[in-house]
Parts: sequence; C-alpha cells; structure tokens
Amino acid sequence: MPKDLAYTCTACGAAHAKWTGRCDACGAWNTLVEDKGLSHGPKKQGLGKARGTAITLTDLATQEAEPPRTLSGVNELDRVLGGGLTRASALLVGGDPGIGKSTLLLQAAARFARGGLKVIYVSGEESNAQVQMRARRLGLEKSPVQLASETNLRDILTTMDGLSPDLVVIDSIQTMWSDTVDSAPGSVSQVRACAHELTTFAKRNGISVIMVGHVTKEGAIAGPRVVEHMVDTVLYFEGERGHQFRILRSVKNRFGPADEIGVFEMTGRGLAEVKNPSALFLSERGDPAPGSVVFAGIEGTRPVLCEIQALVAPSPHSQPRRSVVGWDGGRLAMILAVLESRCDVPFTGLDVYLNVAGGLRITEPAADLAVAAALVSAREDAALPKESVVFGEISLSGALRPVIQTENRLKEAQKLGFTSAIMPRAPKGTQGAGLDLRETQDLAGFVEQVFGAR
Ligand code: TYD
Ligand code: MG
Repeated sequence: MPKDLAYTCTACGAAHAKWTGRCDACGAWNTLVEDKGLSHGPKKQGLGKARGTAITLTDLATQEAEPPRTLSGVNELDRVLGGGLTRASALLVGGDPGIGKSTLLLQAAARFARGGLKVIYVSGEESNAQVQMRARRLGLEKSPVQLASETNLRDILTTMDGLSPDLVVIDSIQTMWSDTVDSAPGSVSQVRACAHELTTFAKRNGISVIMVGHVTKEGAIAGPRVVEHMVDTVLYFEGERGHQFRILRSVKNRFGPADEIGVFEMTGRGLAEVKNPSALFLSERGDPAPGSVVFAGIEGTRPVLCEIQALVAPSPHSQPRRSVVGWDGGRLAMILAVLESRCDVPFTGLDVYLNVAGGLRITEPAADLAVAAALVSAREDAALPKESVVFGEISLSGALRPVIQTENRLKEAQKLGFTSAIMPRAPKGTQGAGLDLRETQDLAGFVEQVFGAR
C-alpha cells in the first residue's frame, strides 16, 4: 500500500491510517473513505536555510479597521451571520438534501444584489434554466444576480478573477472538481481541495464565498464536516420534512455569536422570515393537556418558547421503547433515572415518547425540568397549571440548578400571555416580569407541589 494513503471519516472528519468498518473517533459505521490528501509538494527542502521576510508584529491595543459588513435586510439571516455578511470570508451552509438550501441562498443572493453587491450564483447541480425557474417562482427574476452552471473549479476561479464580484455562491461544494486532484467529485480529497481553493481565493481577493454542503446519513458523499475547520462560519439549515418551519443555526462563527438561530417558514413562494418564533411554535397548542409543557428556552441571544410533549404507555415489549425527537436521547435516560431514584416515579415497563413540537431541536440543559414535567404529567395523566412555563436544569442528585438569562425567559413568557413560571430558585433581585414565580429547590419538591404527595 502506498504510504501516503489515508482514510477519512465522512461523518466526523477524523483521519485513519487503516480502513476499519467503524470510525474510532465518532463510532459511525461504514463512513471511512480513501483519501489521497493534498499533494505535499517537493519533499526534501525544509524551511531551514533560505531566508524569508520578517513579519511586522502588532499589539492587541492597536485598532485595526473592522472588516466591512453588508446587511441583507432579512433580519433572521443577518442575525445568524453575526450582524451581516463579512467581506473576505468563507461560509459553509450545510443541510439535508431538499431542505431548502438552494432556495435560501438564491433569496439571499438576490437581497445582497439588490443592496448593491455584485453577486454570482454558480450551480453545479442545476442548469441555468432550472435556477431561473426557481427565481421566477420566488419572484426574483429581476434581481441583478449573475448565473452560471459549472463544476470545473479552475474555470470558476478564472471567471471570478475577471469579474471581481463581492459575493459568490457555490451550490454545492460536492459537485465541484479541481483538476489538481485525481479523484471523483464529492470525494473527501476533492471537497477539501475545492473548499481550500475557494477559501484562499476569498481571503486574497476580499470577497465573500458561500458554499453549500449536503449532509448525508450514509456518508457516501463527503460530508461538510471535512471543511468545517477551513471556513470562518458554519451554518446548518435544519427542519423536519413534514413541517414548514426551517431553522438556520450557526454552529461556528468567527464574526459573531455561535448557536444563534434564524427561523423561516417554507411557503409556496420561498422562505419567509418568522419574526416571532415563540408565537409560531406555540400556535398549534390547544388547551392544556396531560404530557404537554411549555418550555421557556434561550436560542443564541434571544428567548424562544416551545412546547414539549410526552407520551407514556404500557409497553408490550420486554425492553420498553425510548423515543425522542428534537432532544438528546442520553439526557432523556438521565432524567428518567433521576425521576425514578430521587422522586419515586418509576418508568419500568412503560414506553416513553418525547417530542419537541414544531421541528425545533433543543440542546440547552435548561429544558431538563420541562422534560421531567412533561414525563410526570403524561404518566400521572394530569395537566400542568394553565398558562405556566417551565425551565431549569436538573442535577443527578435531583437538585434544581438556576439557569442563565432567567429574566429574559420570564419577559418572553409574559409577552405571550403566560401568568406563572415553574423554575429553580432565582437569584435575589430577579425581576419576575409580573409572573407568579413558583420556585422549587429540588425535583422531588416540584413533583409534590405540582402533582400532589406521593
Ligand atoms: P431546495 O432549495 O431545492 O433544497 P436543497 O437545495 O436544500 O436541496 O428546496 C427543496 C424543496 O423546497 C422542494 O421540495 C420544494 C420546496 N420549495 C417550496 O416549498 N417552495 C418554494 O418556493 C421553493 C422554491 C421550494
Ligand atoms: Mg439544492
């Protein structure tokens, strides 16, 4: 076997010397693919003897000009970008096929173009006619966006050099190929080489490049994971297929806060921004029902209210089901264990289903108490007090821990017409926003207070 042959996991990007069925780093099966890597150039010469130029160093206090930013005018997008699109930057937008990445980027491209930027949209997946058809459907055919249908990276770079645009959208990075790497488009080495070329080009010429990357569960195509560390900003476009809500989430951003979300709605005429996500996520809620709890969460820098639903039913199987949508399965197991051992609420022999309504995915530990409340409420077949929101982190001892931004959560709840909050002890001086605060110190106390003595 040649020495420089290596294998890369398409799920997590880890490099391996040998092929194995399972990636040691992330545990995914069948995701390792051969990776010829970039050419290392001439081997023997080190950097040692030849002299370079000395670099000018600066200190931290000197004020360098901040990179200029451009706003698209779509609030949800600008916030996720950290306050507009930054010059000389590379972005990656990942997401499942068919989730709406091309739609989002065509709309964004049109916005930026109307704002005065020179924008090129390169599609490697669709013909010009197909992109034009989508533009007509979105009512954007008059926008001054330049189109091209091309996959050869050298030709694309040459074109960009000649036209000196401000923004280039590459849809998608998996379809691009560079003639310096002799493997198929979409392979790890091609994707990495193309992303590297585009990123370097963006930095050198002071333009913004947005790349689309598909994420596939099978890992047959190199996932965007291998380029995440190269780019400045990584955004994921998520959503449940059956729902019209789409969430743009920043997982890495060198120019703004990470974990910020933008909420959109997929309509017949493209993506519309959702100004008040809490109202949207709660819109399908009926009267208070057992197993349904409103969680006051924080996504990035702003509060978002959503509904957590649980269903508990006797299991016909020897090993009961634990099924979760929109939350972490391991965290659910932990909450069940704490309920069982600290609060005397057993779930043995019961199937448990947990769902975050609206296709939102919650990662905050502050949702612990809301999940526990939904589970106990479903099990006891008793609804929570009307118009109340719940939040708080649960520790393994069953104690409730205070969470960040309590006041913001309460304010949002008050704005949407809630009257009480079930939560951990808040620090002294916390403004209650006019809500009736029901503070509890531990989970057992909460269960007793809300569902009666056991
Ligand atoms: P698309 O942007 O092509 O997805 P991706 O680039 O991520 O693969 O969008 C795919 C879906 O979006 C498609 O199933 C149709 C739907 N859609 C609408 O519902 N409304 C619209 O206005 C558009 C353009 C697409
Ligand atoms: Mg597409």
